[in-house]
Amino acid sequence: MATTLIQNGRIITASDDYVADVFIDGDTVRMIGTALPVKADRVIDATGKLVIPGGIDPHVHMELPFGGTVSSDDFESGTRAAAFGGTTSIIDFAIQYKGKTFQQTLDDWHAKAQGKCAIDYGFHLAVTEYEAQHAAEFAKVIDGGVTTFKLFLAYPGVFMVDDQTMFRVMRSAGEAGGLTLVHAENGDAISLKIAELMAAGKTEPKYHAQSRPPVMQADGVARALRVAEFAKAPVFIVHVSCEAAMMELVRSRDAGNPAYGETCTQYLFLDETEYDKPDFEGAKYVFTPPLVGRENIEPLWKGLKLGYLQEVSTDHCPFNFKGQKELGRGDFTKIPNGGPGVEDRLSLVYDGAMKRGFSLNKWVDLCSTASAKMFGMFPKKGTIAIGSDADIVIFDPHVERTISARTHHMNCDYSLFEGWRIKGKPQTVLSRGKVVVENDQYTGRRGDGKFLKRGTCATT
Ligand code: URP
Ligand code: ZN
Ligand code: ZN
Repeated sequence: MATTLIQNGRIITASDDYVADVFIDGDTVRMIGTALPVKADRVIDATGKLVIPGGIDPHVHMELPFGGTVSSDDFESGTRAAAFGGTTSIIDFAIQYKGKTFQQTLDDWHAKAQGKCAIDYGFHLAVTEYEAQHAAEFAKVIDGGVTTFKLFLAYPGVFMVDDQTMFRVMRSAGEAGGLTLVHAENGDAISLKIAELMAAGKTEPKYHAQSRPPVMQADGVARALRVAEFAKAPVFIVHVSCEAAMMELVRSRDAGNPAYGETCTQYLFLDETEYDKPDFEGAKYVFTPPLVGRENIEPLWKGLKLGYLQEVSTDHCPFNFKGQKELGRGDFTKIPNGGPGVEDRLSLVYDGAMKRGFSLNKWVDLCSTASAKMFGMFPKKGTIAIGSDADIVIFDPHVERTISARTHHMNCDYSLFEGWRIKGKPQTVLSRGKVVVENDQYTGRRGDGKFLKRGTCATT
């Protein structure tokens, strides 16, 4: 087995900050210490660099069929782009289509991902239908390493579940040791508003945002939290984009409930004025929940700092502008919902967190450790410790770069952050001991990534 020695880097975990060497044997961290007296097949000088655990993006959608098209990154291109950005684990959503068992759903997603990924990958199971025959499947699915279940309270007629289904799934998942994730909005009220806007000839991308304002997200979040409380089950709210929804979480957790949540990079930087861009460009920002007023951005950062929200994901679900987003010209309901993001998360959060006085430890926690703990991967993932997987990023905190679709590796013809100058960049990325990105080159191989059999979630 090949050995690697990373020398003299500043090791940052969620709790520690010190200069040392890291010795990797095969895919595992074996020694950490100053001036380690060992020889290795490969020595990497990390002087002046940050050595951090590989990023974990727990919310992505590779090659997801959605809105009459398919998200434009498959598991190969999307995970390679993730690696370039310093993310070494992703969790995608296996979505149950009507009539499928949980196991059939997971088999379909395994078939899409297997042998293609550049980094390790896991699945959440999105339940859209729950009949008596599914009850026995929870324990089996959890045993197979899928310990999180997702429900949509949006997209009626496609993925949305009713409250009875939500209650039953939360209760069964909780009893089996699982965690339920919720896309929380009021799908029914929103669908009426959409119909009214369309009937009034309001068809531009900005009406997507007007059809689903923060109050409808806060409503969905409040309902999901209360049903979870009734079901005596832990719950995790995905892609929280506004202060009103976040404060519902704070209220529930203050009351003693195991209620958690995330936000995504786009909500930490961008606001609803993006929808005013000319020439249909606002369609690039059509994802759900939509961008909201700028007054929400600092409260979200504050929520991350104070632990109101646990981590930052991307909800990476890219569609090209040409040929995909354009499907919704003249009808915003036909714009496929989603945007690209998996590649830039670590750097963007670094940039934004440093500007707001966060510690480096908190940055690592938000981008890696918290997700490893929340989603049953710690301490194999999410830290640099003896025995952990050698998923390591050597991050140059001084390099400045410009984000652009011309240079990114995501299979998407635009970037949400085109032209933005940011500080900090992953220089070398190791996935289970193998260097997969170095000096802007991909050095890994299709299929290096393995399925992540996750344990139960740290929700107390
Ligand atoms: O617009 C989005 N977020 N697309 C992906 C599906 C979802 O709701 O997470
Ligand atoms: Zn969603
Ligand atoms: Zn999503």
